[in-house]
Amino acid sequence: MNSDMARYPEYMITVGDLSRFTGQTEKHILNSFDKEALLRLPGGKRGIPPQHVKAYISERKLNYSFKIVAHINLKGGTGKTTTTITAAARAAQYGFKTCILDMDPQGNASLAFDRMPEEDDPVFCDIWQNPGEMVMGSLKLVEDYLYILPSSLENSLLDVDLMNPRSQKHAVSGVCQELRKNGFDLVMIDCPPSLGTAVISTICAADTVVIPVCSDLFSMKGMELTLSEISSISKAFHLEPPETGILYTKFDKRIKVSKNALERISSKYQDQLLPVPIRTSSEFSKMLEKKKTVFALKGKSSAKEDYDMYLTYLLKRNETRRRNGGK
Ligand SMILES: Nc1ncnc2c1ncn2[C@@H]1O[C@H](COP(=O)(O)OP(=O)(O)O)[C@@H](O)[C@H]1O
Ligand SMILES: [Mg+2]
Repeated sequence: MNSDMARYPEYMITVGDLSRFTGQTEKHILNSFDKEALLRLPGGKRGIPPQHVKAYISERKLNYSFKIVAHINLKGGTGKTTTTITAAARAAQYGFKTCILDMDPQGNASLAFDRMPEEDDPVFCDIWQNPGEMVMGSLKLVEDYLYILPSSLENSLLDVDLMNPRSQKHAVSGVCQELRKNGFDLVMIDCPPSLGTAVISTICAADTVVIPVCSDLFSMKGMELTLSEISSISKAFHLEPPETGILYTKFDKRIKVSKNALERISSKYQDQLLPVPIRTSSEFSKMLEKKKTVFALKGKSSAKEDYDMYLTYLLKRNETRRRNGGK
């Protein structure tokens, strides 16, 4: 595996970002760092590399306890991959040592970072039986504090490999625990839009499942199915169900269908709906072309604001809850 530090950190959080995240004033933050820890970014802002952010946040007893967050919706096109890669990139900037587990055989998250596996590179279906020896050597570095276990079509074999319910229960969890042992703080899992064994095993492992949903009817149907599957899988495996959240994506207040759908979800699922929707923005596809996330953009952007809020909300939620069943 490569070292923790990518050679040219392209973007990082600013003093203003850290002020919003911690509630401390910018002046207080500026005074808390040695001059060498602060880098001058293009545009004049002060950037703080992840290792310094982590030291600062840890000292204030904010929580880096290990978390597994999965993005699942049985319908495609709802924002699972976008949410996984964007939130993971941001978490890494906040000093969370983060690994994206790409569980989708289509490998969209891997492609988004230009980290598709080479022909002989191991993917999930090669490593789950032997995580202790295989996991760390299979990761690819994306940028500082951000790694990915890439996926390829080979992972379609999982539906055959994970026939046995015991394997389903432990496959994803075993890989995540190996990451935890190796100092990772956060695993973000991108799932395929189907109820195969990859998704079942992910539900067994996750502390939190976030369901991205947009205004179209199929995506809402997918959300309802996902919620009911989470509950029945947890029961079948005698596991405490993961915490669930619904993230409304591609929100456009000018479009009636989009507003109405959000209102409907918020009245029916008020406890699960996350407080801030992700607005629709052309910046996602623009940055995808460049194999980067919106957090590589300079300047203000609704896309960055919304995912910053999402991530802050996610990371400040409860401590990792203990799950039953052999973790
Ligand atoms: N908030 C958004 N605004 C505009 N386009 C978005 C937004 N979120 C996702 N997209 C686009 O929608 C498409 C599907 O998103 P994706 O994350 O791949 O969904 P999934 O992984 O659920 O299939 C992609 O082209 C992506 O760039
Ligand atoms: Mg996807």
